Amino acid sequence: MSTMLDVSGLTHQYGKGEHAHVAVQNLTFSIEAGQLACIVGPSGCGKSTLLRCISGLIPASGGSVRLHGGEVDGVPDDLAVVFQDYSRSLFPWLTVAKNVEFPLRWQNVSRAQRARRSAEVLEAVGLSGVGKKYPWQLSGGMQQRVSIARALVGRPSLLLMDEPFASVDAQTRGELEDLTRTVQRDLGSTILLVTHDIDESVYLADRVLVLSKSPASIVADLTIDLPADRDQITTRESERFVALRGEVARLLQSPQVQRTTPTSGLAVSVESELTTADR
Ligand SMILES: Nc1ncnc2c1ncn2[C@@H]1O[C@H](COP(=O)(O)OP(=O)(O)O)[C@@H](O)[C@H]1O
Ligand SMILES: [Mg+2]
Repeated sequence: MSTMLDVSGLTHQYGKGEHAHVAVQNLTFSIEAGQLACIVGPSGCGKSTLLRCISGLIPASGGSVRLHGGEVDGVPDDLAVVFQDYSRSLFPWLTVAKNVEFPLRWQNVSRAQRARRSAEVLEAVGLSGVGKKYPWQLSGGMQQRVSIARALVGRPSLLLMDEPFASVDAQTRGELEDLTRTVQRDLGSTILLVTHDIDESVYLADRVLVLSKSPASIVADLTIDLPADRDQITTRESERFVALRGEVARLLQSPQVQRTTPTSGLAVSVESELTTADR
């Protein structure tokens, strides 16, 4: 596997002087091509800040972000982001199909091709046939599917998702989680998804990075060795799932996660000490 994303010593500070707030501090990790990695951490720990730095929306105060080996210093063409708030991220005056093909307007893609690709990704997210509707005619879960389709239409090398299912009901959330895994498998996408939900991180990921409280540093890097085919009921009932979610929960609760050795054979590597959790 080749490295898709390389984050090295990443630090971001909002403001200056006495009003300065360090949101992320010295984060180092990489994501392999084709991986679905979840970042889990408490609210306010700096997850969104981290994604904004990776996507080039805000400049890092220190360290570097590399995509395919090239330094990120603006929003890369082959990167897409799905935000939590679908209701504000779609254009209400454009149809679903036009919303989805919107990112292609700046690429050299003919009108006919745009329409074809829009229809293709809408089908991939289970929304064929709704292209002519407007976003406000759809349920919240469907709108978030449209956002996912729009993110996929440009065939991004890396898809960033920031708490993408936090505003939908539990049933829809499960469906969208399964959709994310299906899309990743079928399209071979590399996905970095941020969540504060422990169960969601374990259910979705090949790998979970656990962040400390603000300023975020990486507490643990766990390989999720659950079978690739997952099911909302049987996977979540399985012994392995329960053990893994317990492991993540313990890590998140512990104020002193310092070089603890794994208790259940997990591939845990403590990349940095949780020295800031008590601040
Ligand atoms: N634009 C901003 N200006 C100043 N502080 C900010 C800004 N955005 C976020 N923060 C602060 O940075 C910290 C991390 O925020 P954020 O990255 O949104 O956390 P998370 O996504 O993990 O909830 C929080 O303490 C938040 O208040
Ligand atoms: Mg956030």
